[in-house]
Amino acid sequence: MAQTAGDPSRDPLAVSNFDIRIAEPADRLPIYRMLELYQHDLSDIWDQDLDAHGEYGYALDRYWDTDGYQAFVATARGKYAAFALVNPFVRVGTHGYWMDQFCVLKKYRRHGLGQALARSVFNELPGRWEVGQMPRNHAAQAFWRKVIAEHTDGKYKEHDIRTGPWQGFVQVFECTRAP
Ligand SMILES: CC(C)(COP(=O)(O)OP(=O)(O)OC[C@H]1O[C@@H](n2cnc3c(N)ncnc32)[C@H](O)[C@@H]1OP(=O)(O)O)[C@@H](O)C(=O)NCCC(=O)NCCS
Repeated sequence: MAQTAGDPSRDPLAVSNFDIRIAEPADRLPIYRMLELYQHDLSDIWDQDLDAHGEYGYALDRYWDTDGYQAFVATARGKYAAFALVNPFVRVGTHGYWMDQFCVLKKYRRHGLGQALARSVFNELPGRWEVGQMPRNHAAQAFWRKVIAEHTDGKYKEHDIRTGPWQGFVQVFECTRAP
C-alpha cells in the first residue's frame, strides 16, 4: 500500500516510520482494544456507556467474515498506532465506500499518519467514497476537509445531514488509484 515519505532523522514519528497495511485476523483483538480507547476518547460527543463487562463493545468480526467490510491498520516500528474500518453503508448515495471508523492513537497524532492512512485506504479502494463526521467532532471535520481536498484536488461535495438516525457532515468524492 502507498505511504507518504517523511524525514525520520528529523522526526522520530515521521510517517516513513509507519507501516500501513490491510488488517489480518491477528489484528482483530488489537483493533478491538484500540476501538475501546477511541470510543472513550470521543465519549463526550458520542454518547455511549460501558456494558456489564466494562466495555463499549463493537461488532468487529464482520470486518473479516463479511463481503464489503475492510479493516486497515498502521504500526510504528511494530507498535499499533492507528486503524481504519470501511463498510458499504453510505449515507448520501446508494453505493460506495463509507469510512466507518478511523483513529490515530494520541501519541502519534499531528505527524501526518492520519493523512497517510487515509490516502492508503483511498488508493486501495478506488471508486465512490463517503466520509462522515459527527456534528461536534470539529477536529475530525478539519482533518477530513484538508485530507479530502488535497486528495481530490478540491473535487468533492459536502452534505450536512440533519435528520435520520445518523447526522453530521459527509464529504462525497471519487477516488482513482494513484499511479
Ligand atoms: C482526526 C485524526 C484522525 C487526525 O489524525 P492525525 O494523524 O493527527 O492527522 P494528521 O497529522 O495527518 O493531520 C493532517 C492535517 O489535518 C488537520 N488536522 C488534524 N488534526 C486536527 C485537529 N485536531 N484540529 C484541526 N485540524 C487538524 C491539520 O490540517 C493537519 O495538518 P497539520 O498538522 O500540518 O496542520 C485524529 O486526531 C484522531 O484519531 N482523532 C480521534 C478520532 C476521530 O475523531 N476520528 C475521526 C472520526 S470521523
